[in-house]
Amino acid sequence: MKVLIHDSAEAAVAAIANRIVEKVIAKPTCVLGLATGGTVEPVYDAMVQKYEQQKVSYSRIRTFNLDEYVGLSPDHPMSYHHFMEKHLFGRTDIKSENTSIPFGNAVNPNEEARRYEAAIKQCGGIDCQLLGIGENGHIGFNEPTSSLSSTVRIKTLAPETVRANSRYFKNIAEVPRLSITMGIGTILCAREIVLIAIGDNKSKAVLEMIEGPLSARCPASALQLHPHAEVYLDEVAASQLTLRDYYEAVHPNGKVES
Ligand code: PGA
Repeated sequence: MKVLIHDSAEAAVAAIANRIVEKVIAKPTCVLGLATGGTVEPVYDAMVQKYEQQKVSYSRIRTFNLDEYVGLSPDHPMSYHHFMEKHLFGRTDIKSENTSIPFGNAVNPNEEARRYEAAIKQCGGIDCQLLGIGENGHIGFNEPTSSLSSTVRIKTLAPETVRANSRYFKNIAEVPRLSITMGIGTILCAREIVLIAIGDNKSKAVLEMIEGPLSARCPASALQLHPHAEVYLDEVAASQLTLRDYYEAVHPNGKVES
């Protein structure tokens, strides 16, 4: 795992966005795994900016999002379909027929989960998966105690996730309790993984992910098994790491060779 510590949130965001854009330039038909959440909003802003500056075209990429709330239709304002349209898809030349997000309003959510896993495999798998991390160490909606080899399935949100995500809803009662999410096994199949964590509230999860034991207690610790995972952090999210001198010696200022 490459641990890349940046001196500000802005620098970490710019670095991970540049990394993704580099990958699209190197392979214009690449398959990106995408995430939602407050942390990735500025990452998408930076990717849009590169498109507007004509530094990159996303017209041939394919995308698969991590997850969606069960029960929300794509046009629901709190759905992840809506989030992606607002923050990335609707602002670039990405072709909507090349984007995939699980349908939370599918009549049979279990069948939708199986379909989604098969669709990822059918297109040759994910080249680069973007991730955030929850305060409880979740990736996607894989909450603590998720199987480390799980595939796409229905997961119940942890109470702390319901609380954290309620900031986007009118009240906590409106937050869906179920999701369709890529499994940890699905995520580990991506050829490369880039994860971003910003802020003090993520520092404990970051410590457990990078230096803690490999454990379903912290789902993100499964990234320790991945041969090509990069973690982009600001100073504060990195503040509890005990081997920080080592990470900074290997990657001064979060720099990573291309
Ligand atoms: P956040 O969500 O970026 O809104 O903190 C991250 C996550 O829960 O994976």
